[in-house]
Amino acid sequence: MSSKFYVESEKVQYNETKQTILSTYEYQSSHVETDGERFRVKPVNTNLTFRTSARVPRVGVMLVGWGGNNGSTITASVLANKLGISWRTKDGVKTANYFGSITQSSTTSLGIGPDGKDVYVPLKDLLPMLSPNDMEFDGWDISSVNIADACSRAKVLDISIQDQLRPYLEKLKPRPSIYCPDFIAANQSDRADNVLSGTKWEMVTKIREDIKDFKQKKNLDKVIILWTANTERFCDVAAGLNDTADNLLESIKRNEAEVSSSTLFAVASILEGCTYINGSPQNTFVPGCIELAERHGVFLGGDDFKSGQTKIKSVLVDFLVSAGLKPTSIVSYNHLGNNDGKNLSAPKQFRSKEISKSNVVDDMVESNDVLYSPNEKPDHTVVIKYVPYVADSKRAMDEYTSEIFMGGHNTIVLHNTCEDSLLAAPLIIDLVIIAELCERIQVKTIDGDYEQFHSVLSILSYLLKAPMVPPGTPVVNALFRQRACIENIFR
Ligand SMILES: NC(=O)c1ccc[n+]([C@@H]2O[C@H](COP(=O)([O-])OP(=O)(O)OC[C@H]3O[C@@H](n4cnc5c(N)ncnc54)[C@H](O)[C@@H]3O)[C@@H](O)[C@H]2O)c1
Repeated sequence: MSSKFYVESEKVQYNETKQTILSTYEYQSSHVETDGERFRVKPVNTNLTFRTSARVPRVGVMLVGWGGNNGSTITASVLANKLGISWRTKDGVKTANYFGSITQSSTTSLGIGPDGKDVYVPLKDLLPMLSPNDMEFDGWDISSVNIADACSRAKVLDISIQDQLRPYLEKLKPRPSIYCPDFIAANQSDRADNVLSGTKWEMVTKIREDIKDFKQKKNLDKVIILWTANTERFCDVAAGLNDTADNLLESIKRNEAEVSSSTLFAVASILEGCTYINGSPQNTFVPGCIELAERHGVFLGGDDFKSGQTKIKSVLVDFLVSAGLKPTSIVSYNHLGNNDGKNLSAPKQFRSKEISKSNVVDDMVESNDVLYSPNEKPDHTVVIKYVPYVADSKRAMDEYTSEIFMGGHNTIVLHNTCEDSLLAAPLIIDLVIIAELCERIQVKTIDGDYEQFHSVLSILSYLLKAPMVPPGTPVVNALFRQRACIENIFR
């Protein structure tokens, strides 16, 4: 299902021979100065020219944690879409779709049509973009189970889908992976039967060979790597260990214990020139890793898929604060019974998730000094419990209490049955599609030269719970501002 068309406008030139799209854009903003008492606001116009390669390359996606719930679900679901399968359920016949992917299943308004109504097109038709059906999948897992058996272990997709796809999926077997047991919960050790041996540098070298092998066997133009493996504990960040690119590389060569599997994968990806995305909350991107990516001009995106509870929080708190109501207490309970929940039942891995879920309201609270005094924040508590019976059907229960007019209180309670992996899997598609498109975009100001975006891809913030941004750049958590960022750049 590739794009039927993409949009041209007066400010866009499409060069058929060179296969590039040139578009100019006048960006209007305001610069604010203050002497402490008054604000002086000056409108500023900046002219930007975007140059986008229109040739959609052949792309491979390598998943770390391929045999997990997310990894197996996305691989099977893309195949189901490719084959156009349908299946009977007690509610009638269902067909494969990409619901939950903003590129594939959301639309955007181009403007007003002749009849005075908005004209909407799918986001994927704004520019030539990779179709998920054209993605090739491969990856690594510490568990040797093939992807058909991984789907059956995950208990996510309807059994009839699994049965139809089994002949294809059982041929897909994860490559042996880097396993640093100290970083994930001890309760994961019983599935670790597919692991590399050797020093950390030797394992990085093997991962680089795997990337080359996949690229060559599938005749790919590029590969994007995404961590959807277990949440790790945070690693130490220290001078001499991982504070600079050179120190990080030296630490790996010294076989330093405190370099995590996820950072080793990131380093291998960067050295192979492949974009690396972190779908889990841990601090994979230590300063040395970011410096290495900048040095090699490689993109990084992170951290932690934003699928359920946090997505709603980043809308609801934005709504409350911008409505002039003052959230004072936000309490979020989760219980889930999949392998992610089992891993998160260990304190250090839970702590990584807690950190990732905690900062999501900060920028919205800081934006309103009518409601909040400096450094004042709502109470914000996150609880996660492992309840095997509910499996992948995660329950997220939230209570938002706000102070309202004249000392009153407003309490909103939500109960969300998440279907965890069916919410997370489409995010993998969007992360890959948007990151790949960013690799084809360059931008310049009137007097500057064309440059690619900064290595830290903040455009991916909409899809990530604890968005990483380039140093010195403010983090935006409000969901619709994050979406506007994607739409504006696509325009
Ligand atoms: N809604 C969601 O599902 C959601 C949302 C946000 C973040 N996440 C994060 O995504 C990650 C994956 O979630 P999941 O539900 O698929 O979990 P999962 O436990 O089902 O899958 C993780 C897989 O990673 C494998 N693994 C562990 N360490 C590895 C390593 N070093 N190398 C290769 N493979 C390794 C495991 O064997 C397992 O198959 C988790 O960290 C989770 O916190 C998930």
